[in-house]
Amino acid sequence: MGSGGRECAIAWKLSQSELLDSLYIAPGNAGTAQYGTNVALSPMDFDAVGKFAAENGITMLVVGNEDPLVAGITDYFKASDVLKNIKVIGPSKAGAQLEGSKDFAKGFMLRHDIPTAAYLSVSADNIEEGFAFLESQKAPYVLKADGLAAGKGVLIIDSLDEAKAELKQMLGGMFGASSATVVIEQFLTGIECSVFALTDGEHYQLLPVAKDYKRIGEGDKGLNTGGMGSVSPVSFADEAFMEKVRTRIVEPTIAGLKEENLPYTGFVFFGLINVGGDPYVIEYNCRMGDPETEVVMPRLKSDLVALLDAAADGRLDETPVEIDERYAVTVMMVSGGYPEAYEKGKVIEGLDAVEGSVVFHAGTACGSDGQIVTSGGRVLAVTSYGATKDEALAQSFANIANIKFDKSYFRRDIGFDLK
Ligand code: AMP
Ligand code: GLY
Repeated sequence: MGSGGRECAIAWKLSQSELLDSLYIAPGNAGTAQYGTNVALSPMDFDAVGKFAAENGITMLVVGNEDPLVAGITDYFKASDVLKNIKVIGPSKAGAQLEGSKDFAKGFMLRHDIPTAAYLSVSADNIEEGFAFLESQKAPYVLKADGLAAGKGVLIIDSLDEAKAELKQMLGGMFGASSATVVIEQFLTGIECSVFALTDGEHYQLLPVAKDYKRIGEGDKGLNTGGMGSVSPVSFADEAFMEKVRTRIVEPTIAGLKEENLPYTGFVFFGLINVGGDPYVIEYNCRMGDPETEVVMPRLKSDLVALLDAAADGRLDETPVEIDERYAVTVMMVSGGYPEAYEKGKVIEGLDAVEGSVVFHAGTACGSDGQIVTSGGRVLAVTSYGATKDEALAQSFANIANIKFDKSYFRRDIGFDLK
């Protein structure tokens, strides 16, 4: 379920499995239609999704984005006599709180001694404590809406006065109910990376580590976007760093989920920051990352259906993950103007001529006359392999040069801060 570049990459990978009979993507995009059948269903319409699954003999549901998980689609399937035997890849509503509530996630990390920034949760009745906490911190100040806010709920502010004013605004409904509680955090300085685990609730397997580039401009300047590109592997995430990640973060998280009775079969996304060689959790997500998935899936050699089956059956300890040694990078082609206002419906040309890269569609649709047209801000993720990061990037850029749509834009410096 889903309609972005992440779901296109997952569909691409699933479609390569010998265990797969048929694949439906709900709702999908023009790219996913190459790997299966798109069905016009909203992932948030649980009744419609359940009815389709029952009528079409679906045996596994892979949930791409967080909204249906946080809203409880897994529990919805488990609670239904007709749907309960379908393997759902994605946590229960209780498990999805790791992403759905930043206050919950911070409390969880505190309970399980998982390294993360110091924090205070504030609501309308203890705003004075919030001001005092801000005064105790050094600039910049980090304010996070507790609930889902479509990636816009985190503010990083230089001045104390402005931070106090924003805190008031947030609690006053700036992000609706999502910011009725605000988490104020200590600012951590370091370089970030995304670690992904697939878990069956007891065991886990790590997937390739990736780094994404969120800002619209080169040098990581300008407005935040849904992600302008990503690379895998990540040079600083070496064996010594990953050993700390496993023992201090991944293992206590999986054990904590079990201990607190939070049913979790699916992907855990650890948004980490490397502070002087030590990993800290910036955030959890209850799904894969976008555009990280567009480099993680290509580096996964194992059969994805087999892995997900093992996760659903609690057998992940017996199912090691095989990883391609090569670099994978993805460069996102976006609509001019994004992440602010942009136009849609631009005809995309040159996709047939792509050689040596895989193009995952993020925001595309089928136009009239079988043309493929833009339908979102992020349009195409052009992924390539290489023996080095630069070799992989050169391959993506060579293909991008031949893919045309009006006002397209991409960043030429993906991976710039990595060796
Ligand atoms: P997101 O939650 O993905 O919208 O992104 C928020 C971004 O804010 C993260 O990717 C970090 O770059 C930054 N950030 C969040 N929390 C902190 C923190 N405690 N210290 C430093 N940077 C942070
Ligand atoms: N790439 C960050 C995310 O998927 O949230």
